[in-house]
Amino acid sequence: MKKNAASAWFLVTVLLVVGVTSAVAQQQSTISDEAAASRIAWWRDAKFGLFLHWGVYSIPGRGEWVQWKEQIPVNEYAKLAAQFHPDKFDPDAWAAIAKRAGMKYTVLTTRHHDGFALFDDTESDFTAMKSAAHRDLVAEYVTAVRKAGLHIGFYYSPLDWRYPGFFFPDLYQANAVKMREQYHRQLNELASHYGKIDILWFDGGGVDWLGFNGVTYKDGWHERPKDKHYAGAFTWKDDEALGNLRKLQPSILTNDRTDAPADFLSREGDGAMGNFDGVHPWELCTTLTTGAWGYLPNAKIKSLNDVIRLLVGAVGRDGNLLLNVGPRPDGQIVPEQVERLREVGDWLRRNGQSIYATRGGPYLPGDFGVSTYRDKTIYLHVLNASERTLSLPALPARILSCASLTGGSVACKQVGDSVEITLNGSADASDRIVALTLASPAGEIKPIATPVAGNAELAR
Ligand code: GLC
Repeated sequence: MKKNAASAWFLVTVLLVVGVTSAVAQQQSTISDEAAASRIAWWRDAKFGLFLHWGVYSIPGRGEWVQWKEQIPVNEYAKLAAQFHPDKFDPDAWAAIAKRAGMKYTVLTTRHHDGFALFDDTESDFTAMKSAAHRDLVAEYVTAVRKAGLHIGFYYSPLDWRYPGFFFPDLYQANAVKMREQYHRQLNELASHYGKIDILWFDGGGVDWLGFNGVTYKDGWHERPKDKHYAGAFTWKDDEALGNLRKLQPSILTNDRTDAPADFLSREGDGAMGNFDGVHPWELCTTLTTGAWGYLPNAKIKSLNDVIRLLVGAVGRDGNLLLNVGPRPDGQIVPEQVERLREVGDWLRRNGQSIYATRGGPYLPGDFGVSTYRDKTIYLHVLNASERTLSLPALPARILSCASLTGGSVACKQVGDSVEITLNGSADASDRIVALTLASPAGEIKPIATPVAGNAELAR
């Protein structure tokens, strides 16, 4: 590394202490034309997907940010490729696990911020082909997921820590341009070599992510305030890159972590569940275990109850859930995690009618829980286990009948300006589901606010 690059790296290291890993909200809108609505229809019905963070970072097992967090020199880190032996990588098993969990799509990290590509890029030396694996793992993944009848997603990070130009795009312009060339080339390869791909899930693209939301080189080095946008000369030329992508893959869906128009918005982490949004397609991504997206030995697994609440919370807010696992370096998904996913699948086998192909609402999230609907049925997801009687605002529709989908019995009546619901029987279910059958389509009803006493957590 040249001397000035080395001092720049030192300054970057200093920045570590201020914590620079927050994602940047880039855009709050999605493409809203008819073509976009029709290509995303399957995804809106699907609701639930499997995220897979897997790469050479799985070997040290300290999370996918290990290179950056521990400031491992690029050449040192590159040696991990020689230790990458995914002997138990069985993408058919991955696809079967996703299917059994009731998931309808999968998204694999084809290349994360460390720059290691799981696919064959002849122009890069840091790929699975040139690692001890000597395989194009993306090709095998695609074949298996397609065979299982699931939709295929690629996660891809334009950001690459091996390039000083990522941190200092204006200081190292030529290097930043090289990084961009890699991005455009690899995106083109991913779009050209694997047949039809359904989702391109970007992360770390868009200029506001440069140097992790803005190291500015004026009055010293500091993080750019959240409301200030990158104002330097570099651009990822996302319109060009995504224009080419859409030409090669006309029905592909993209998220909002680039500077180009997106099909859906991405919310990240349990704490980012946020509000109901029935206008823009959106997805919450989060982890099945705590601590990192990539493999961590002995990571704590969320309870079945937690996962159900995340799924129901997202769907009731009219979003999707993309739930992550970090397979072991040998490619195997940790058996205890597989077991939890199987339990989620069992729950969905029983209750999937209140999830798949529904839309969130018309009752907005509140103390009672959340609601979903399809055709003339509203599904109330009662998430407050202690609640026996519920009083919700009246519906501008006639209720023909009501039934409990989760055992016990339920009585419902419209009185004056409210709907009164009485639940009997077991109250320990994480989500008691009541189906209200109406005389007219529930989609005709505008969103209805419900009481919120401040415990929005319950509605998750
Ligand atoms: C973040 C992190 C990353 C993870 C991703 C998932 O932006 O950089 O490690 O892949 O979010 O949403």
